[in-house]
Amino acid sequence: MTKLIAGNWKMNGSLAANEVLLSALASGLPQAMSCEVAVCIPAPYFAQFQALALATPALALVALGSQDVSNQSAGAFTGEVSAAMLKDFGCRYAIVGHSERRQCHGETDALVAAKAQQALAVGITPIVCVGETLAEREAGQTTEVVKRQLAAVIHANGHCISEIVLAYEPVWAIGTGKTASPEEAQAVHAVLRAQLAAATEHAGRVKIIYGGSMNAANAATLLAQPDIDGGLIGGAALKAADFLSIVSAAS
Ligand code: PGA
Repeated sequence: MTKLIAGNWKMNGSLAANEVLLSALASGLPQAMSCEVAVCIPAPYFAQFQALALATPALALVALGSQDVSNQSAGAFTGEVSAAMLKDFGCRYAIVGHSERRQCHGETDALVAAKAQQALAVGITPIVCVGETLAEREAGQTTEVVKRQLAAVIHANGHCISEIVLAYEPVWAIGTGKTASPEEAQAVHAVLRAQLAAATEHAGRVKIIYGGSMNAANAATLLAQPDIDGGLIGGAALKAADFLSIVSAAS
């Protein structure tokens, strides 16, 4: 299956810095790409991305994504951004349930599932993040935790589950420089694939991507695993050269 390399810029960027980074991506991307590339950028910069994409044909190869979406469709929800608003700006992806939102904003499995539902309802692909903390891994709970997180999304989304992208992001590997070994990551991806297979006959076409300190040096071996269909890239997505090397490892 075609791999997906998605950058998660988190709360980084500025008009000036984004222009430099996106221009460098546009000029460095291969003309004929054999993987999908997306950047999940802070919402205030969607219009900037749109304008740059219109002016720079090579950027048309890069899909736009958000880092979150509301679980509500409209109304008195101060500070929230709806899926329809993301759609207005041409977002193709929306990250939901990132561990930073689960940890810092108290997002529950049910809330994450509702967010995925909102995205799917307008034709945006949710990138649903699951992953265990270090304490959970050390207590032997990895499988139980990721299965519980995915089960909530399957429960809320029924047969639409084959339309999601799933991201396995061990919390202990995010931004720490500690990556899951290719074998550790593959083992969890296989568990998730089997869980999807019990819910949909299309489990084989669901992209399950890995995130957590993926970089130019380790991307190729991670991406060579049979159930690793791409990467969700944080720190390395902020450096054009590093992000482009990961894209070429996936191509
Ligand atoms: P990282 O972040 O690549 O900096 O570890 C990944 C993520 O949080 O999506």
